[in-house]
Amino acid sequence: MEAEIEKIIISEADIKDRVRELAERIIADYERKELTMIGILNGGLIFLADLIRHIPFAVKIDTVRVNAYAGNATYPKREADIVDSIRLNVKDEHVLVVDDILDTGKTLLKTLDIVKKLNPLSVKVCVLLNKQERREREINPDYCCFEVENRFVVGYGLDYDNRYRNLPYIAVLREKQDK
Ligand code: IMP
Ligand code: MG
Repeated sequence: MEAEIEKIIISEADIKDRVRELAERIIADYERKELTMIGILNGGLIFLADLIRHIPFAVKIDTVRVNAYAGNATYPKREADIVDSIRLNVKDEHVLVVDDILDTGKTLLKTLDIVKKLNPLSVKVCVLLNKQERREREINPDYCCFEVENRFVVGYGLDYDNRYRNLPYIAVLREKQDK
């Protein structure tokens, strides 16, 4: 895998530090509240798993599966589809939706739409990366670890054609990949 990496843009150590800092903000904001964290599969899986292990009080977790890309493309589809929705009852719960990256905004907006219909007390957005430049929908993260430039990145949950999610850092792939 490493031969296919052009450069590491966020190191494993920097991710660890920022995830811990962000968890501290979440702890301060949600202490003594009923919190359900909803991870977006597959990309949000690693971030969610690391984040929740810093949280010292009881939180519920659930996931949604959303398809934003067709096959091995590096550009998103026109609309994101919810392929598998949440199972927990989030009525009167505070909800934090967790994903790897906020890019065009379609995936998170679609997820917020379905969560809001379930009458939670509040809904906020937590992402590892924010690619502001590509935004097509009006949505901003409430919690974010890093701002990134408009380049396709992989690692720590983010994939290209379902590979590279297991890299412990965020990296840019070599050019031979179809862009
Ligand atoms: P959005 O719907 O365009 O905001 O895209 C969000 C989804 O697209 C994320 O959940 C990611 O899975 C995927 N995505 C967006 N940008 C990248 C990237 O640079 N690398 C890998 N996946 C990405
Ligand atoms: Mg994703």
